[in-house]
Amino acid sequence: MTLVTLLFAAAVTAQDQKPIQLPRLDTTGGKPLMQALKDRHTAREFRADTISLPVLANLLWAACGVNRAESGKRTAPSAMNSQDIDVYVATARGLYRYESPSHTLQLVLAEDIREKTGSQPFVKDVPVNLVYVADYAKMTRGSAEDRTLYSAADAGFISENVYLFCASEGLATVVRGSVDRQALEKAMKLRPDQKVILAQSVGYPKQ
Ligand SMILES: Cc1cc2nc3c(=O)[nH]c(=O)nc-3n(C[C@H](O)[C@H](O)[C@H](O)COP(=O)(O)O)c2cc1C
Repeated sequence: MTLVTLLFAAAVTAQDQKPIQLPRLDTTGGKPLMQALKDRHTAREFRADTISLPVLANLLWAACGVNRAESGKRTAPSAMNSQDIDVYVATARGLYRYESPSHTLQLVLAEDIREKTGSQPFVKDVPVNLVYVADYAKMTRGSAEDRTLYSAADAGFISENVYLFCASEGLATVVRGSVDRQALEKAMKLRPDQKVILAQSVGYPKQ
């Protein structure tokens, strides 16, 4: 590699990469709500199979996609409609951020940081680890205590949407509070006003 190529490679950051347009949604399928609620549960054993892009697209939309184009509001509620939680997607290929309005994935880091998303042994191998990050720059009203409380609640709604989608689709999932937040925030290169709230692993269940 020449010096020029090296410099060019250094200059092209993950943020410069074109976003990945996610496939069209399928909002017609899935189990009836009462059946999904009946089947919702935590699982901690996963097969190695990856999640296809169409399934990931539906999963992310279920998490916090835009479900009312006219207002830009989402499948999950948020305090004062602050939409403060960003969903990051840690995979073997890299770390992405889900951009709800455009239904795209933006590459954030071209490296596998799955191991850093939690303390449990399966996190390094599970195909998808979602990380719920509060962006306090988007939550300008309320006391610091309110903002902490609301961001935790807002992440909880997203997590439950993911649980229900997984129950409906036959996917296995576990939401995780056991995360070394400081180390993960550093690995994700977050700003000081962005905080990791929870992580959630998603994959196919081990039979
Ligand atoms: C805020 C929160 C944090 C959690 N953190 C972890 C965790 O770090 N690791 C884990 O294996 N499970 C974690 N769980 C999953 C719970 O252990 C699980 O929901 C509980 O045992 C009840 O099981 P169920 O989800 O199947 O009903 C967490 C759940 C919540 C709501």
